[in-house]
Amino acid sequence: MQIEESKISEIADDMEKNDIDIAIIGPEMPLVLGITDELEKKGIEVFGPNKKAAQIEGSKFFARNLMAKYNIKGNIPYKKIEKKEDIEGALRNWKGPFVIKPIGLTSGKGVKVWGDHFTTYNEAIKYGYEIFDGRIGGSEGFIIENKVEGEEFTLQAAVDGKNLSFFPLVQDHKRLLEGDRGVNTGGMGSYSFSDGKLPFVKENHYKEAVEIMKETINALEKEGIKYKGILYGSFMETPTGPFLIEYNCRFGDPEGINTLNSIKTDFIDIVKYTIQGKLNELNIQFNNVSTVCKYIVPKGYGVNPVSNKPLQIDEEIYKISNLKIYMASVNEINGVIHTTTSRAIALLGTGNTIDEAEKVCQKGIEHIKGEIYYRKDIGTTELINKRISHMEKLNNK
Ligand code: GLY
Repeated sequence: MQIEESKISEIADDMEKNDIDIAIIGPEMPLVLGITDELEKKGIEVFGPNKKAAQIEGSKFFARNLMAKYNIKGNIPYKKIEKKEDIEGALRNWKGPFVIKPIGLTSGKGVKVWGDHFTTYNEAIKYGYEIFDGRIGGSEGFIIENKVEGEEFTLQAAVDGKNLSFFPLVQDHKRLLEGDRGVNTGGMGSYSFSDGKLPFVKENHYKEAVEIMKETINALEKEGIKYKGILYGSFMETPTGPFLIEYNCRFGDPEGINTLNSIKTDFIDIVKYTIQGKLNELNIQFNNVSTVCKYIVPKGYGVNPVSNKPLQIDEEIYKISNLKIYMASVNEINGVIHTTTSRAIALLGTGNTIDEAEKVCQKGIEHIKGEIYYRKDIGTTELINKRISHMEKLNNK
């Protein structure tokens, strides 16, 4: 979501005029620009971190630096590149495969990984220059960090400044194409198991990830920063434990869709207890269902998307049990839903098992026609088994 800084006070004024009591902020951009601070000044209660706290996502350097300062486990060796003349030397001298991350916000599309997005120093250096010249992620440059091999997982929590209430683990699929190939996207789909865990994440590593997030909130508190809202941790499960890939200051998209459908407790209660700083008094209940979410995107999404194409949505879709349909980036033109260049519709299937949930989701997709693409493999037993055997292979190395 793109939004100008000047719009923040306009939005806050509108909310005041409309007598809004509580604001729940979804996307990162307004949080990073300080919408929470503006609203709180007007006496509006906000579920979402303030400007200082949102730096956890707004600056990749801030997050790494905080973890380093407080010696928090799971940090990855990193270096900040703030001058163009340092690009070449820093990249050529880095030991081992590395990842390049623009410091500011890029909607999940700015990270480039050795072996996946580039395979030579020259390509990496070229991207380094592009970040500065194209102001990718703002004008602050980028960080280089070690590439960590494993399986990614998402751990999200509601945070009231001190207490954290954790939600079920989710796995997202950032790559465009089946088999985890192609460009990075905002996220093509995600799944969660009914027990809230993932079969390739060891229990002690799950607990470590929980501890890392708790220590991060503690560290922020020591810095005089009160974090209120959702904290999203993207982790890499590895044989030696989980490593923090990045923090977001909001629900994941699509992971938030899995999460919100897994919660039995009224979400508004979670919001109120978070704002009041008493999450420790709320026992959040879950539905114990498995969930699979798949995004339908326009053909060419992420590379050269065809936009403004009509989607035929057959009415039968609304009769499918355990299916939810979330319109994302679409326009209604003369009563017909049209695509844009971004993710169009998320379908969420629930079931007792992942297999059941995946089938529900797939059934829904069959009722949508148009110039679309989606990943068929998300939530399938085949892909999940591949994840499990990938981790087994790494653990036995
Ligand atoms: N699913 C990745 C993100 O929300 O940034």
